[in-house]
Amino acid sequence: MDFTGKNILAPMVKAGTLPLRLLALRYGADLVYCEELIDWKLLRSVRRENSMLGTVDFIDESDGSVVFRTCSSETSQVVLQLGTCNAERALLVAKKLENDVAAIDINMGCPKEFSIKGGMGAALLSQPEKVRTIITTLVNGCKIPITAKIRLLREHKETLAFCKMLEECGVSAIGIHGRLKEQRPRHANNNGAIAAVARELKVPVIANGGSMEISCFEDINKFRAACGVSSVMLARAALWNVSIFRKEGILPLDNVIIEYLKLAVKYDCTVGTSKYCVQSMLRELQESPRGKAFLAAQSLHAICSLWDLGDFCSNIQEERRKMSGAVSNGKAE
Ligand code: FNR
Repeated sequence: MDFTGKNILAPMVKAGTLPLRLLALRYGADLVYCEELIDWKLLRSVRRENSMLGTVDFIDESDGSVVFRTCSSETSQVVLQLGTCNAERALLVAKKLENDVAAIDINMGCPKEFSIKGGMGAALLSQPEKVRTIITTLVNGCKIPITAKIRLLREHKETLAFCKMLEECGVSAIGIHGRLKEQRPRHANNNGAIAAVARELKVPVIANGGSMEISCFEDINKFRAACGVSSVMLARAALWNVSIFRKEGILPLDNVIIEYLKLAVKYDCTVGTSKYCVQSMLRELQESPRGKAFLAAQSLHAICSLWDLGDFCSNIQEERRKMSGAVSNGKAE
């Protein structure tokens, strides 16, 4: 698998589920990262082929929730992002999922308290020996590529040493978010620091953190050039309007929301996740009359109705109810 010259959907908790990933691919993304999934959640999940949806699901049997849902059309392009601080657990998860995803990424950049307290995410940036063990174990034990997503360390030489260590361990690519772990999205992304590190590495670097300067396809190429790399990864710019990946130009937001909702219905996405995604797309439009009605909507059907997809949603949901009735009556093939 080649990580050079790619436009990539970045990992986003809650947002990076199957509908957004499929839409990003449809609009031209080359690779899509799933939201960060914590190792033990995947470990205790059960793999099920969902014939009704045409998906592969990893289900938490304690409450029936879907931990990870994927389908064959994304298998060669989806990267599973893992939150982990433990090599054995990471390897067990990797073996469990390696036939269903194209690569596995380890999150080494998340600054949230949950990650740091658990020794995961950005906590790993100060534990190179632990990282060495995790990455070496995965690279030696897995048949698919392993990547890492990091943030900048305070000094250039520290970031470079950390990346060289990752390179030595055999990662296939390194995603670099050009901010320190203490910095927030409003701080400027240090594109020059990404370029300075990338220059000294052999492994492909995927630049990240440029969304504030990206509002059309050409901006993606400007960001790529500013970071001196061939691959870039977008989070917020893609969440705001995922058609940003279209070479032919960005589409009107309503068209994108309609396509997103169709996929959300088709893949039986939860109302919580669908609402979160559409809300992130609407941004200031939440203040419009439709935006306010959207905020009050409590079901996927109610949300769909606001974009004239009420019948579409009811028909699919009804068909699914009939099919599951037939399955439970033993009538399905
Ligand atoms: C993120 N980010 C993130 N990073 C990561 O490694 N794993 C994750 O699960 C998440 N989750 C997440 C959710 C949401 C809603 C946002 C906005 C961001 C960080 C993200 O991948 C990226 O590094 C930063 O947003 C900077 O890139 P952009 O937004 O400037 O393209």
